[in-house]
Amino acid sequence: MNVDVLLGLQWGDEGKGKIVDVLTPDYDIVARFQGGPNAGHTLEFGRQKYVLRSVPSGVFQGGKVNIIGNGVVLDPALFKAEIESLEVSGYNLTKKIFISRKAHLILPTHRLLDLAYETQKGTGRIGTTGKGIGPAYTDKISRNGLRIGDIEYHFEEKYKKAIVHHEELLRQMNFKYDLASLEKEWLEGINCIKRFKWVDSDHFINKKLQEGKKVLAEGAQGTMLDIDFGSYPFVTSSNTICAGACTGLGIAPSKIGEVYGIFKAYCTRVGSGPFPTELTDETGQKMRDLGYEYGSVTGRPRRCGWIDLVALRYAIMINGVTQLIMMKSDVLDAFDVIKVCVAYEIGGHRIEDFPFEIDNTVKPIYVELPGWKTDMTKMQREDKFPKEFKNYLSFLEEILGVKIKIISVGPDRGQTIVCCL
Ligand code: GDP
Ligand code: IMO
Ligand code: MG
Repeated sequence: MNVDVLLGLQWGDEGKGKIVDVLTPDYDIVARFQGGPNAGHTLEFGRQKYVLRSVPSGVFQGGKVNIIGNGVVLDPALFKAEIESLEVSGYNLTKKIFISRKAHLILPTHRLLDLAYETQKGTGRIGTTGKGIGPAYTDKISRNGLRIGDIEYHFEEKYKKAIVHHEELLRQMNFKYDLASLEKEWLEGINCIKRFKWVDSDHFINKKLQEGKKVLAEGAQGTMLDIDFGSYPFVTSSNTICAGACTGLGIAPSKIGEVYGIFKAYCTRVGSGPFPTELTDETGQKMRDLGYEYGSVTGRPRRCGWIDLVALRYAIMINGVTQLIMMKSDVLDAFDVIKVCVAYEIGGHRIEDFPFEIDNTVKPIYVELPGWKTDMTKMQREDKFPKEFKNYLSFLEEILGVKIKIISVGPDRGQTIVCCL
């Protein structure tokens, strides 16, 4: 069997959590392969809403194995809080979640370093989620990181060594902090992690594939936030793309099956960095209001703009997307005219390939399409789609070269249409 991968094609928050939950019944295993608690994956069903950060989005469908892969960075304190809040809602996940021994730990000082580096950058700050993601991956790459498996091997010694080094860095930056309370909740988190089954997720997943089990790899963030291919340096610190599923789970590229690329019918971004189609006017505000575009983790207002097919085509290419999933089309229900960015104008030239540098001289070239002016939120069947909506879909499919197989028309699990035509 193959591993199917579901990942974001824009700047994150495309609706990955919702669709992983919808697709989970078709799979035996759901596995997160990168990122950490910078993610906020929202799921809604039975009038309840859940926001998952490190917990994979397959936990609400019965009898599935959920894996936190080696490519993930895990904060014990935030993981404990997440697990406890799900327990309050009646979900005991101790037997459902397996954690890779090779996943790296986010230390309390990583969070402090994240804040210190952001403060130092001043107006050039990235606008991180402040969860210590960059510093934790930095330690991983510089071979100073602590892994889940280290909890059983000379842990105290390794932990203290790392903290001494981090405190030295914080002192150099003149950053004031209080480590004691952070450390207390972090160590309680370590005890929580000990309650879960740790696995060599690489061996585990490959054996399951040999047994014919189906695996869905769940991405976090989005392609335009990828450390290599995103709008560097305004990116996250991991490979959010399809290749990240191979390195983040220990599966060979030949084992990748379907690649589900998920995008919003428009665009959003949280934090700093280029965003060619951003709307800072009342149209952008209308999208934010109708789409409730506020960060699921930080509550920050998301920047909004029209769909960008230059960036989307690039993301599809990098990931080898085989099926597209369009989210939040209902947010555009009220618009008379919908704009689609098909190319950029840079220095008087029309550019269709996503360029190395995006600055404020990049001008989007738009095609205007008529809005469908129909309430899509109760729509259940594609043969009932208004003709303007069908027109929007076929326009995108034509330029993107991949079929849109799933359409989401509201946050609830049930507001999802799988296209068969
Ligand atoms: P993720 O990080 O990719 O899982 O996405 P987030 O959960 O951060 O953000 C997506 C937001 O849109 C959440 O609040 C979802 O409940 C909501 N959502 C998902 N799909 C739809 C949809 O089709 N329509 C509307 N209106 N909201 C949606
Ligand atoms: P999900 O999985 C949207 C953004 C931050 C910041 C940049 C770097 O919910 O789609 P980091 O804390 O990772 O060092 O921040 O990346 N960012 C996200 N934006 N959705 C996310 O995750 C994000 N995770 C990080 O806002 O601009
Ligand atoms: Mg999110």
